[in-house]
Order: sequence, then C-alpha cells, then structure tokens
Amino acid sequence: MTSSAGSCSTNVSLTDRAFLEAHWMPFTGNRQFKASPRLFTEAQGAYYTDLEGRKVFDGLSGLWCTGLGHGRREIVDAVSRQIAKLDYAPAFQFGHPLSFELANRIVERMPKGLDHVMFAGGSGSDAVDSALKLARAYWRVRGQGGKTRLIGRLQAYHGVNFGGISVGGLVANRKPYGQGIEAGHLASIQPPAGSFFRGQPAEHGVELADSLLSLIELYDASTIAAVIVEPFSGSGGVIIPPRGYLQRLREMCNKHDILLVFDEVITGFGRCGAWTGAEAFGVTPDMLTFAKQSTNGVQPLSGVVAKKEIYETFMASGGQEYLLEIPHGYTYSAHPVACAAGLATLELIEREQMLERVRELTPKLESAVHGLRGARHVIDIRNYGLAAGLTLEAIPGEPARRPFEVAMAMFKKGFYVRYGGATIQLAPPFISTESEIARLADALGETLNHTK
Ligand SMILES: Cc1ncc(COP(=O)(O)O)c(C=O)c1O
Repeated sequence: MTSSAGSCSTNVSLTDRAFLEAHWMPFTGNRQFKASPRLFTEAQGAYYTDLEGRKVFDGLSGLWCTGLGHGRREIVDAVSRQIAKLDYAPAFQFGHPLSFELANRIVERMPKGLDHVMFAGGSGSDAVDSALKLARAYWRVRGQGGKTRLIGRLQAYHGVNFGGISVGGLVANRKPYGQGIEAGHLASIQPPAGSFFRGQPAEHGVELADSLLSLIELYDASTIAAVIVEPFSGSGGVIIPPRGYLQRLREMCNKHDILLVFDEVITGFGRCGAWTGAEAFGVTPDMLTFAKQSTNGVQPLSGVVAKKEIYETFMASGGQEYLLEIPHGYTYSAHPVACAAGLATLELIEREQMLERVRELTPKLESAVHGLRGARHVIDIRNYGLAAGLTLEAIPGEPARRPFEVAMAMFKKGFYVRYGGATIQLAPPFISTESEIARLADALGETLNHTK
C-alpha cells in the first residue's frame, strides 16, 4: 500500500520497513511494529479507519483521552479559529485571555477548595512532576525544607518524567533509569486474582491505606512532602481503591502534615461519571493533576489544580511583586490553541450530559466485562466508571505475551484495546452505545477463547 491511502506527503510505502525506521516509537515494541505496522489514518466518532480502510472500534478512547469521540466539530472549529487568531502567546510574563477563562471553568468543576490552576506543558507527566515540585517547594516556603520525600504506590503509573517514575510503581518503567528521586511506596491495592470485584471492593480499605503508617515510621513525617495516588489506577491494569481507602489516606495526611495529591490524568473530566475522581470517591486532595480528557485528546493540555492555601502560601512569600513566586513552567503551558480545545471540550461534556451518560453506561460495561468471567485465561476482572481491566494468566516467564497476542487478534477483528503487563484494558468512549460495548466484550471473549 502506498502513502496515498494515508496523509503522508512523500511517495513511499507506509508498510516499507526502512521508511518506518526513522520514527523511534514510544512505549512500542518497535521491531515488531515495523514488521507489522498498525496505522490509523482517520477517525470519526468511536471508530478509527486504518491504512487498509478498515473501521476499528476505539476501545480505549485513544489513550484514555477521547471520550467524546473523534472529529468533534465544535472542538475542530474552536481550534481552527484560535490558530488563525492567536497561534501562540508567550507563556511567561505575558498571557492571553483563554487561559484565565479556562482556569475559571476548570475551578468551577473541581471539588470545593481546589481553586487555582497551574497549567503544565501538555502531558500528564509534566502535570505530575509539576505537582511533586510544588509539594516540595510548598514545605520549603513554610520553613520545612526537610520534607522532600514523595510517596507513591506499587503498581501506580504517574508518567515518564523523573518525579513520576520515582513515585510510580511499575517496575519495568523504572528499572532502566537508575536512581530516581527520594520516594517510598504504599502497598499495592490490587485484589488477589480470582476476586472479580465489581466496582469498589467493600473491604480492607483502611488496612491497605495504613501501609502509609509504616512509611511514616520508617522515614518520619518530617521528611515526607506528599502522597500521590491515582483515584483509580488506569495503566497499571484498572485497579480500584476499596471503600474507605482514600478517606483513610486523607485522614492520615491531615494528621501528619503531608500533602495528598490525586493524579487525575485518567480519572479527570468524565471517566468516573463525575468531573473528578475526587468527586466520585468523595475525597478532596490538596492538589490534583489533569491532562488527557481535558481537551478530548485534540491538543496537549495538562495542569495541577491546587487548594487556595497552597497558592496563597506562595503568593505571601514571593518577596517583591515583580519577582517570581515559583520558578516553574513550560513554553507550552496553557497554549492558546489547547485552551480553546479545553473550553470547547468542557462545554460539550456539559451540553451533551456526558457525566450522566458515563453513569448510565457504567453498569452496562460492568455486566459486559464480568460476563467474561470463565473465558479462557481470565483470572481477574475489575471495573469502575467507563474503565475495565482483565488480568490474564501468565505464560511462565512471559507475563506480557498473552495480552499482546489478544490485543493483536482484537485489532484484526476491528477492535483497539490496550495491553499492559498481564492485563487487557478497556475504556470505551462516553459516546459508545450499549450494543458497541456488548460487541467489544463479545469480541474479547471470542478472542480469549481462541488464544493459546
Ligand atoms: C495517572 C497518569 N498519570 C500520568 C500519565 C502520563 O501522562 P502523559 O502520557 O500525557 O505524560 C498517565 C498516562 O497514562 C496516567 O495515566
């Protein structure tokens, strides 16, 4: 097939391996991909079109970011208008109106008390490292500069920057890079295989959160700046906190003067059937991060929402007014085109009542995926909101192989799903129909039963 099927300007074959070599792809087995490329050329609604013209259902909403579906006219128009009007404005010392408008719209949708948005460079990883830096700097400004340790959790994913991989708990993402920053890790909250919990597990929340106590004993609270957790973990395999877990973390952080940060890069802006995971789980952190769904994946936009007291602490200690309160920011912080996409996205989520839609579809996805209990290789299934994870029994010594094979077979059938570690992950678009969700689960069941 030549490039005319795609939108590549040069007259080359997109299946020609030599041509594909120049792009060193992220989080991809490059050698396998380039031998057997999977390229999307267009997308509308809940479907991609691949290079061969096949329709492929978007079973992960891109990478957890395109819940409203692809090709949304309102977002396309907002972005096009903004590019023509103001394509870039310097992010430091000068500004543009849309970032202020968007910050206000975001704050209106946050749990009470989270009042200030610091935009990051556009990726979730930037948002996470921004929050971690803010946490350390906050204690320093308050005269407690010894509070530098950052606590994450086993199996957590917080992006790929040095802060994020240090608090992250997916070993494969940390191992190649050597020493990170001072961190510690809470116990995993993944239920034992065979639990097949629907939604939030009912038990052991307090016990599991109490693993923070042993870290406090080991390091002392006077050295700990923050605890960061995903309200529910997405990339680690869709791992849901048991009831009482986040509440207990909140209590302990309050008691020991430790900031609590929610990494809402996946859970923010609709996937939980609420604006935030904080709202869905009923716990308000001191800061939360967002990215992905905030522009429906159309433009990179990310940031941290901090509570008033954190913002005011920096403002109060900033010295003379012309000086910086904190030396941090990115060239693309609150990029005007990304802000335009963000404003259009928030409006669409509201106008189309997408939070309600996610809440309506949640039990449909739950029963569809739990219907796969008993399918070949499936040893656990978890779900929350419009997200689900299935753990597959590992081939000895090769835990990642079976999920990879299942995802490839699904792609052949016309369904895109994510494979990660020993899991298959699903996060269908908010605009999915019940029958699309049922078809996704049926195709997965059939694929599993035909996988060795
Ligand atoms: C919870 C969480 N934090 C951070 C990130 C990193 O986001 P990005 O890939 O945009 O850097 C992700 C990405 O999946 C995520 O799920």
